[in-house]
Amino acid sequence: MAETLFIPEAATKAEKYNASLPQIEALISGEPDLYANLSNIAAALKEVFGFFWVGFYLVKGDQLVLGPFQGPIACTRINFGKGVCGTAWKEKQTQLVPDVEAFPGHIACSSASKSEIVVPVFKGEEVAMVLDVDSDQLNDFDQIDQEYLEKLMGILSKTL
Ligand code: SME
Repeated sequence: MAETLFIPEAATKAEKYNASLPQIEALISGEPDLYANLSNIAAALKEVFGFFWVGFYLVKGDQLVLGPFQGPIACTRINFGKGVCGTAWKEKQTQLVPDVEAFPGHIACSSASKSEIVVPVFKGEEVAMVLDVDSDQLNDFDQIDQEYLEKLMGILSKTL
């Protein structure tokens, strides 16, 4: 298993995703432990993109519970349909939020967080967890992030 990510210098965001996704896939393939894989995905995304906060919330009963992440300490539990994460779970769809202040019911784990993208991860038809990425800049995520993060979560989904 490779333990170093190789990303071309001066790459565009899409090029960084294109370079890193196969390496992240190689990193998690062959490792059956979910928490080991979630930890490495969060660390890889933090290393490549320098996200303010990146991590997972896992469905446990009727709540999302904080899983492996990189960044400042965060809220531990989120109810179904609440906040951006709970909405992604309920709607079974990615939530791309350019300004968290404008999202009804947004849960502010950190006042520094300004924009956010949350991608659901499926086990069969059901949401098993969500990937949450926060930025301290407004409008920091776009269709490129959505496309590649959904692709990455599809790769993760196959291991569940
Ligand atoms: N802002 C999220 C809560 C999780 S933290 O950002 C890490 C939400 O509204 O669901």
